[in-house]
Amino acid sequence: MDSFFFNELFTTMSNADAIAKRRTFGIIAHPDAGKTTLTEKLLLFGGAIQTAGAVKNNKIKKTATSDFMEIEKQRGISVATSVMAFEYRDKQVNILDTPGHKDFAEDTYRTLTAVDSVILVIDCANGVETQTEKLMEVCRMRNTPVIIFVNKMDREGKDAFSLLDELEEKLSLKVRPLTWPIGMGDRFKGVYNIYGKSLNLFQASKTKRAEDVVSIDSLNDPLLDELVTPQFGNELREELDIIDGVYDPFDRNRYLNGEVAPVFFGSAVNNFGVQELLDTFIDISPSPIGRESDSRFVEPDDKKFSGFVFKIHANLDPKHRDRIAFLRIVSGKFERNKFYHHVRLDKNFKFPNPTSFMAQEKSVIDEAFPGDVVGLYDTGNFKIGDTLTEGEDMMFKGIPSFSPEIFMELENLDPMKSKQLDKGIHQLTDEGVAQMFVMQPGNRKIVGTVGMLQFEVIQHRLINEYGANCRFTPKNYYKACWLTSDSTQQLTDFTRAKANYLAKDKDGNLVFLAETQFLLTMAEQDYPEIEFHFTSEFKLKK
Ligand code: G4P
Repeated sequence: MDSFFFNELFTTMSNADAIAKRRTFGIIAHPDAGKTTLTEKLLLFGGAIQTAGAVKNNKIKKTATSDFMEIEKQRGISVATSVMAFEYRDKQVNILDTPGHKDFAEDTYRTLTAVDSVILVIDCANGVETQTEKLMEVCRMRNTPVIIFVNKMDREGKDAFSLLDELEEKLSLKVRPLTWPIGMGDRFKGVYNIYGKSLNLFQASKTKRAEDVVSIDSLNDPLLDELVTPQFGNELREELDIIDGVYDPFDRNRYLNGEVAPVFFGSAVNNFGVQELLDTFIDISPSPIGRESDSRFVEPDDKKFSGFVFKIHANLDPKHRDRIAFLRIVSGKFERNKFYHHVRLDKNFKFPNPTSFMAQEKSVIDEAFPGDVVGLYDTGNFKIGDTLTEGEDMMFKGIPSFSPEIFMELENLDPMKSKQLDKGIHQLTDEGVAQMFVMQPGNRKIVGTVGMLQFEVIQHRLINEYGANCRFTPKNYYKACWLTSDSTQQLTDFTRAKANYLAKDKDGNLVFLAETQFLLTMAEQDYPEIEFHFTSEFKLKK
């Protein structure tokens, strides 16, 4: 899709049309379930890429943990794939990419604040995995609509009914199969489309779309037995009877409220089941939805422009320290070269080169609409969570921070460079590479991440981009929790008793660094009037 076409498209469209046209979503999965493969297949179907492999090669490979150049290179490439847009059946589909590497899970959580729905990919053999649960927790916080794709049906996996039970149990959500597999692994015959009443016969093909779709009049059609054998035909009839008895009919409103997730079965690598998934996604997924701010709920059809930054990407080239801030447009129309209000800094900025990221190319755009993501060149003015408006003083809520899992104390190895170190670590944590807690009182800095890879990235970037040399010493903290209380007395007592374990986060919120689950439970029991929050999302409740 060329950029000229998109620019044309943008300029001739009214806000209402543009909103109705857009579908902004993310694909989430535990690593290896098939997220990259599915993304690529969707792009192929949408005509956004022509060859397989284009997305896959951008993936941060698990083996890259100690290869800095590889990480840097891939970080750079991933800018291009941060947003992948294509047109399909008159809709503009925006896929927001989420990093596959588990050490970058925080990035994914933040990206989920910028989507309107998600597709969750499950490996049929592994079912619900740890990362799946965490990601879904974030989706549930905002009732994000979810479609589930059970992948790798060409391999031996768990029984489909057990998988559905597992999904409901572990993800605390109702499911509703819309297609149903016939056999699996070597005996995988295909899927039956429950509502479309058609049979999609499996053929392993990595390059073309599965074309073997057969309509059957009813489940009693002898053609069914002919195509999949009478044994599989009967099995399918019995299983569909059970489905009708156990699961409520699909209800789109319940899906849009995040209460029920439609389920599809297929094999991404074989292009199988992807078409049904995409078509249903286009039919049922929400157009851009509004967002809660600290003063009001902002609807997408609000006349005035507003948006928030959910991701910041540093320049690959250390000589140019500019960054790209990714802005999700919530309402109104964003225009190039128009002054907008940066609420936190109380300053106005205009953007001469706002960029859209198509699947393979970047291009400067003149306008963008709710649901779109634009890249803004930034010289250090943006932090994750910043809001831009046409003048209104409001901040969008809900860019969550979670408790990190690994904590290290940052030590300066070169006293002459302490300013550089300070600046570097602040900028890197603004980008969301890690979280930083400053011990109270004092200036000792604890850096927290979800994976070890970030420490290598930080150390490498501090030297290369800021000329600052540091060392990390492991700290034995189990969890960071944010504290709030209506009781000043208990808070004062707690602060006195736990003086060595208190820190402030970047926004000045009080944080308790608990060393063990036991000590945390004790603290919760001893100070019942203090609330211990495990995500910074508590700010939503204010
Ligand atoms: P991720 O982004 O969720 O981490 O997963 P990714 O798409 O990279 O897929 C992980 C592995 O699973 C890949 O194999 C991929 O080819 C394979 N895969 C994806 N979909 C299917 C499917 O439907 N059936 C089967 N059998 N395999 C599937 P790999 O060996 O890690 O990479 P590659 O050498 O195949 O590229």
